[in-house]
Amino acid sequence: MTSRRHERPLAIAAATAGAIALTLGAGTAAPADAPAFPQGSTSFQSNCAMCHGTAGAGVPGLAPPITSYPARYAASAEGRRQLALTLLYGLFGDIVIDDKHYDLRMPDFARLDDATLAATLNFVVFDLGHAPASVKPLEAAEIGAERGKSVDGAAVREHRKGLVP
Ligand code: HEC
Repeated sequence: MTSRRHERPLAIAAATAGAIALTLGAGTAAPADAPAFPQGSTSFQSNCAMCHGTAGAGVPGLAPPITSYPARYAASAEGRRQLALTLLYGLFGDIVIDDKHYDLRMPDFARLDDATLAATLNFVVFDLGHAPASVKPLEAAEIGAERGKSVDGAAVREHRKGLVP
């Protein structure tokens, strides 16, 4: 019966573990659902969530929400290029998302391979952004096609101007 004494600390430990599991979890609005792009989910949680939040809702002063625009970009050829360019070269300067200005800097992720970047974007577009089934998942070749260009985050912002939904 001495074990009663341990119930509270154990409950606290369990609650803490639960909180950590939630923080590290799939990050979708409904964490119980398995992500459609599990590899992309893993990459997103380790490379992107610290700025954009585990569910892509954004963090004030750090990064904007990416739950609606990327899914819309993925429906057009230039929008898909924009997604690849943003990850390969970063993005900086004033941008507007849902009538709000963000003037921050996103680093590039060119160190990640094409398949990982495509999967990460697919997690953003489909799992977080709920793009419709008519939108095709991004392929590694679409990322590869944009590599090795003389582009920087300012140029990526210029390209974005023609797209904003
Ligand atoms: C260090 C913080 C940081 C990290 C890490 C980061 N981002 Fe960003 N991201 C930003 C910022 C800041 C912006 C907006 C830049 C600006 O204001 O011009 C942005 C913008 C974006 C955009 C453009 C949204 C639009 O409407 O055009 C996408 C897409 C994006 N991030 C996806 C990702 C993905 C995917 C990852 C992980 C591979 C990632 N980000 C990692 C900070 C970050």
